[in-house]
Order: sequence, then structure tokens, then C-alpha cells
Amino acid sequence: MSISRETIERIKSHADIVEVVSDYLTLKRRGSSLTACCPFHNEKSPSFHVNPRLGIYKCFGCGKSGDGISFVMEYDKLTYPEALRQLAQKYQIEIEEDKLSVQQKENFSERESLLIVLNYAKNYYQQILFEHSEGKSLGLSYFKERGFSEKTIKAFELGYSLDTWEGFLTEAKANQYSIELLEKAGLIKPREEGKEGHYDRFRGRVIFPIHNPQGKVIAFGARILKSDKESAKYLNSPETEVYHKSNVLYGMFQAKNAIRTEENCFLVEGYTDVVSMYQAGIENVVASSGTSLTHEQSRLIRRYTENVTVLYDGDPAGIKASLRGIEILLEEGLNVRVALFPDKEDPDSFVKKVGVVAFKEFISANTKDFVTFKASLFLDELKKDPLRKAEIAKDLVESISKIPDVLKRSVMVQETANLIGLSEAALLDELNRVLVKKKKPVIFERQSTEEKQEIGYQTLEESFNEQSETITVDKAEMEIIRILIMHAGTKINDDLRVENYLLAELEEVEFKTPIFLKIMEQTKSFASENYFGRDFFLTHDDSEIRQQASDILSKVSETSPNWERFSIFIPKKDEELATVAYDAVLRLKGQRLQEMEIEAKKGLASDDPEEQEKAIKLYMAIKTESQKIDKEKGTVVRKN
Ligand code: CTP
Ligand code: MN
Repeated sequence: MSISRETIERIKSHADIVEVVSDYLTLKRRGSSLTACCPFHNEKSPSFHVNPRLGIYKCFGCGKSGDGISFVMEYDKLTYPEALRQLAQKYQIEIEEDKLSVQQKENFSERESLLIVLNYAKNYYQQILFEHSEGKSLGLSYFKERGFSEKTIKAFELGYSLDTWEGFLTEAKANQYSIELLEKAGLIKPREEGKEGHYDRFRGRVIFPIHNPQGKVIAFGARILKSDKESAKYLNSPETEVYHKSNVLYGMFQAKNAIRTEENCFLVEGYTDVVSMYQAGIENVVASSGTSLTHEQSRLIRRYTENVTVLYDGDPAGIKASLRGIEILLEEGLNVRVALFPDKEDPDSFVKKVGVVAFKEFISANTKDFVTFKASLFLDELKKDPLRKAEIAKDLVESISKIPDVLKRSVMVQETANLIGLSEAALLDELNRVLVKKKKPVIFERQSTEEKQEIGYQTLEESFNEQSETITVDKAEMEIIRILIMHAGTKINDDLRVENYLLAELEEVEFKTPIFLKIMEQTKSFASENYFGRDFFLTHDDSEIRQQASDILSKVSETSPNWERFSIFIPKKDEELATVAYDAVLRLKGQRLQEMEIEAKKGLASDDPEEQEKAIKLYMAIKTESQKIDKEKGTVVRKN
């Protein structure tokens, strides 16, 4: 039995390279690609790269490369058709779907059966839309009136449900689908108590199928055609075995590739917003479907990108109400930006009104960082009532406290201070207070000491130190020194030892802590000697160096057995060392830049115009550099 061309195409479109490979290997993000140790040859440092944009993998060590299907062939030692069948099973693509016997249908698990009947219903509604006279005259013309092209309608598999009580039910029964299954899928409902029988859930409505990220239909949203105050504008499928509303984002299947290539995800409220933006060529868009956001949805986005731009309808009351939901995105470590639309416009109506070009221009001109956005929302209030400043500051700090990354947090504190005209120190105080109150576990950074990690909470003092270490650099330096002493002599890839990596990266960074400076200098002088290693420090002539080395090593062995729960600087395996060292280097450089920035800011205040211009240039250069580092930092995968 051969597999049809069409099925092969479907398998290919579902077999996303990252998802396929992730089932076999743990991928770590590095710049625009994801890496792992190559499964096809023996290696300790990762040279196996997956490029989501191109949909391929390539190992720079052994040269093997290919797509998702060839990966499975290679890894599981399968023939081409065997690999296809395996992937088809995984993505629940029915290879012989229309030839299934009743017996075969019963053999599927309940989940699979639900997916099959939902797929059947999708095809049915689609067929009604395009072929039935009522579908054409009411459904199709409704979509056309809204400006949806046939191509768009097909991309989202939109449909129409007849305005009858049993139109769908009768068809489905004739096709051997059981009442029980149809009800479980949320497609039909039992008649009211005392009456026999069932009826169609969706009647006289246009249908928006809701897909999972692999493209399987898992539910439906159905919109009424007329503006009828009596009935709800949308009727949606109930929760079922395959549909958990809070885990789903409408449009993710159609959007996921564009989200990866654009490295950003637009988040809107409605089905029609997704469809319209997609048609306008902005394909990286998904909808929360009118409910407030959940952690699962945030993590779903994070599978594809770290950047999200929320597009809001411009109604101030509504905005303030939904701010809380947006903060969930922050908590999941996403970089959140917001664009506010003019009052009474949503992305769908607005793109229709102004056209694609103006729409895109509007978005790029009006997109703000979330905290800045929130601050600007409150600025008007502030003008009217300056006494509210403290209250507003608290509110903003509350948002900032949700950002998991210390560096990002401190940048936000700076910006917020400028925006609302309060001192950075005051905001920092407040931020620390909030962090302590929340008993926020030390999820931040590797630089935390083991003691803190054991306790898992910060005291006020510790929390303050945590913050101010963006200004003092000792901990960042210490982290480098720890890695150096712990792992001296260890290779981080085939031909680079960790000490040479650190020396090269930090050539221009001068260590400030005298003992650390001394250790770096010793390393520079002796790194090429064959006896260079941990013992070099432990047996060094200089007692201060010996002391430092044994302190570091003994601290490590004392570490609580719990340490794995927290992101800690000790790499467990050699292959993690490269990531840890890289992370530490970025951190130190980032902190240095921040200090330079503070210095440069002082220059900005100079009276001498020449001095001032120099300071501006320096300041800009520093900003650019630290943005680069921030971006890099965002790509370092932490374990926590
Ligand atoms: N919604 C819903 N049930 C309702 C109203 C809304 O499930 N009774 C969800 C839908 O997912 C809808 C989203 O909330 O897409 C946003 O609602 P709204 O802005 O009112 O609808 P639009 O998507 O803008 O639809 P339209 O443009 O057709 O009015
Ligand atoms: Mn709308």
C-alpha cells in the first residue's frame, strides 16, 4: 500500500523540524538556531544545529543534514515510507482516512476518534459554505462582505452551519458517527429534559474551526450573522477531551512559521482580527479569543519566540481591565510590547479602514514596551492628581517585579523612573519591598550564592544586594573566576579550553576585585602551560590564590543536595560548560556597560557643548552595545 502524494505533503507540513528533533534531543537556543550534541557522531560539545527558519538540521561536526523526515530515518534507522508512517502516527494524520471501516474507527482511542469526527465536521461545514445554496447565499456572502478572500477562507478552513435543528446530526449519523461521540465532541446537544433526542449545537452561523498547532481541528467558534441582541455573538465548543480553551491560541497553526521567522508574535483578541491580519500579509498573529491570558498560552508562544506584541482595542476601561492578563506574559519571561488602536477600532476593522501599508506603519509607530505603555496610560491621571504618583509608581513596580530577568528589571526601573519623574533609588526600594513580600524564589540568576538558593527566598538585605549588583560587579567577576578555577583545562568544544575562551572574551574587561585580577593575570601568563589546571591554583605559590581556589572548591562540595532545583552555575556535564561560561561572560560585560552608561549620563549634564556631544555619542554607543548583549542574554537558555 503506497502513501498518497497528498498525505506525504500533509506529513511534511506537520513535521516541524524543531518538534520532531525535540522528541529525541534537548535543544538549546543559540542565536537564531538551536543546538545539541550530534546524535550521529560522538561529541562532547554541541555542533548539531537546527534552523527552524529553513526547516533543516545540520551537524558541523560530521556533516549530516536534512529535514524532519530524514532525521527520523537516520535516527531510527527507518526507510522513507516507514519514517512517514511513524510521523503520520505521531501527528495523527490518517494515511487511509477515507477508507476506514466502522471496525477500524472503533479501534481508535477516544482522542483520535474525537479528532476524526471534528475533522469530519470541519469538512462538512466547509462543504456547506461552498456548495449549499444557503451556505453560499448567507455564509459565503457574509465572509465576502467582510472582505475575506477565498484563499483566506480556505487557509482558515472557515465554514457555515445550516439554520436547521438536525442538518449536521443527520449527515453525521448517516456516516456512522455515534451520537455519543458527536456529543462528546461538542457538536450536538441533548434536547431539554424530558425530551428525546439531540440537536445541532451550531445553527445558522459562520464557523471558525480552531486548530491545534499541528493543524488538527479541536473545536469551533461560530458567529451569528445578524446583530441580534437576544443571542450571543459567538458560540464556542465546550471543553472536551481535546479542547482546553485556556491552552489554546486561535491561529497558531497558521502563524507558527511566520512567528519564528519574524521573531515576534502579535496577540489580538478576536478570530476576525487574526483572519484579517493574516490576509493583509501579517501572518504572525494569534488570538486569545476574548478571554484573559493564561500561563499555558504564554508558554505556547514562547515555544516559537520570546517577543510578543499585544494589539489592544482602544477602550481605556477595557485596557486597564486586561493589563493583569498581559502581566502573565511577563511572568513567563516574554518581552512584551503593546500597540494601542484608536478607540472603537480593532485590528480587523482598522486594517480594513486604512489599508495594509498604513496599518503596518501605525503599528510600528505606536508600539511601546509594556511598562512604558502602562506608565503612559497613567501619565494623564498623574497630571491631574500629582498625589497619585506613589500609587502609580507602586503599580508599575508591581509589573516590573514580574520580569524574571534581573538585568531587564533594572533597565525597566531606570526607564520608569525617568518617565514618571521619581528617583531610581526610590523605585528600587519599592521593587525590593515587593520582591520580599512575594517571597519570590531566587529564580533570577546563577550568580546567587548557594546559601540563598538553599533558602529559596530573599531577605530585604539580600534582595537589595541582588539589585545593586547591577552596579557593583563582584559577583559577576566571581562567577567567571569560579568557572575558571572549577574547570581550568576543560574543553568547551573540540579545540577550545575554557580558560582560553574566557581570556579571549574578556581581553578588554579589567577585573576590579584585586584577587580576581591577580587570578586572571596568572591565567593569562600560564594558560598555555601543560600543567595548567585546577591544581595550578590549589598549589600556587601565592597563598591568597591558594585560599581563593580552595574556598571556591569547598563551597561547591558543600552545596545543598537541592541545588538542582535552582539554576546554578555548576555545570553538571561538560557540554553545559560552554553555555555557563557564555552566560557569565555576557553578564559581566552587561554590567560593565551599565556602569559605563551611568558615567556617560553624567557627561550629558555638562555645560560644555563639545563635552556634551561626546557624551551623547558615547552614550548611544553604549546603549547599542548593551542592547546587543541583552538580546544575546535573552537567548541563553536557563534551567529553572
Ligand atoms: N467571544 C466569544 N463569545 C462572545 C463574544 C466574543 O467567544 N459572545 C470571543 C471570540 O473569540 C471573539 C473575541 O472574543 O473573536 C473578541 O470578541 P469581539 O471583539 O466582540 O468580536 P470580534 O472578534 O471583533 O468579531 P466581529 O469583528 O465579528 O464583531
Ligand atoms: Mn471585530
